[in-house]
Amino acid sequence: MTGLYDSFQRPINYLRVSVTDRCNLRCVYCMPVAGVPRLSHEDIMSYEEIRTVVAAAAELGINKVRLTGGEPLVRLGVASLVAMLRQIAAIDDISLTTNGTLLGRYAAELKQAGLDRVNVSLDTLKPDRFKAITRADASLSEVLAGIEAARAVGLNPVKVNMVVMAGINDDEVLDFAARTIDEEWHVRFIEFMPTAGVGDNGLRFVSLVDIKEKLSSLGKLEPCLPAIGNGPARYFKFPGSRGSIGFISPVSQHFCFQCNRLRLTADGKLRPCLLSDEEIDLRTLLRSGASREELKGLIKTAATKKPRCHRLAEGKAPQHRPMTQVGG
Ligand code: 5AD
Ligand code: SF4
Repeated sequence: MTGLYDSFQRPINYLRVSVTDRCNLRCVYCMPVAGVPRLSHEDIMSYEEIRTVVAAAAELGINKVRLTGGEPLVRLGVASLVAMLRQIAAIDDISLTTNGTLLGRYAAELKQAGLDRVNVSLDTLKPDRFKAITRADASLSEVLAGIEAARAVGLNPVKVNMVVMAGINDDEVLDFAARTIDEEWHVRFIEFMPTAGVGDNGLRFVSLVDIKEKLSSLGKLEPCLPAIGNGPARYFKFPGSRGSIGFISPVSQHFCFQCNRLRLTADGKLRPCLLSDEEIDLRTLLRSGASREELKGLIKTAATKKPRCHRLAEGKAPQHRPMTQVGG
């Protein structure tokens, strides 16, 4: 078999790269209340180091890369990293997940550098609630302008990710869904996961089975065929609608059996699984002058350490690293 496989014969072709642990927002489901100690500048992988890791991973079979954070656009020169990664021929898809606040400023530059598309995290369409969920002095209008800017320069499809939380924003599910009818919004509803530092802060998860039920008042949801994307979302649309609706249900209906990804943290650790604390230190090897083959060996090791499945149902949630350092 060519390509990268884990111990359960799952093909691994997707690397998510967190480029910074910093963020200009402090979303309730992501950032622990007490904040997160910041990584120091020396701890953070340089763009050259990231390129080296991606090039090694590409030789093993990785062909998709997503840049995440924290908020990737708070790190200076992310477009230059995109341009560097674009030079790696085997990488055929480069995407970015952002909170959208800085997209208006950077969309054109990112497109020019070779970025294919963006996902924007947006959990409410109400300006006051936006401030409450993000606990920051940012505005919803910046994000909406960012989404439009991304679309205008062709970073399509722009996907909008909404983490659904009981009593916080679950009453807006129909408003988000309605946007997919007349506008080309591709909304994905995501189940809240109890990641490190936010698992016990009173947020309650809503099953997407219930959300889907609620959406039936807007029309009959039909599966998008052929299936879109190769990630965990299952896509549907209302008849005649311009956009689509995706469901990402890591909790109620896990999709671990089709997991195809590895993650690289901002400080250069490989994470075999988002929902397990295990990490493999790539940075130390890289900075000790390791050869390309040694790096590839460590990436393969990380793939073989992927667990079959997360263990949230047994109450085993990750404890150590907050989402701001892993990037979703
Ligand atoms: N549960 C579910 N999704 C989360 N994200 C961040 N934290 C959580 C969580 N606890 C999502 C964000 C973003 C992506 C990077 O991860 O909404 O879209
Ligand atoms: Fe919110 Fe994303 Fe920043 Fe976390 S990294 S606080 S989800 S914007």
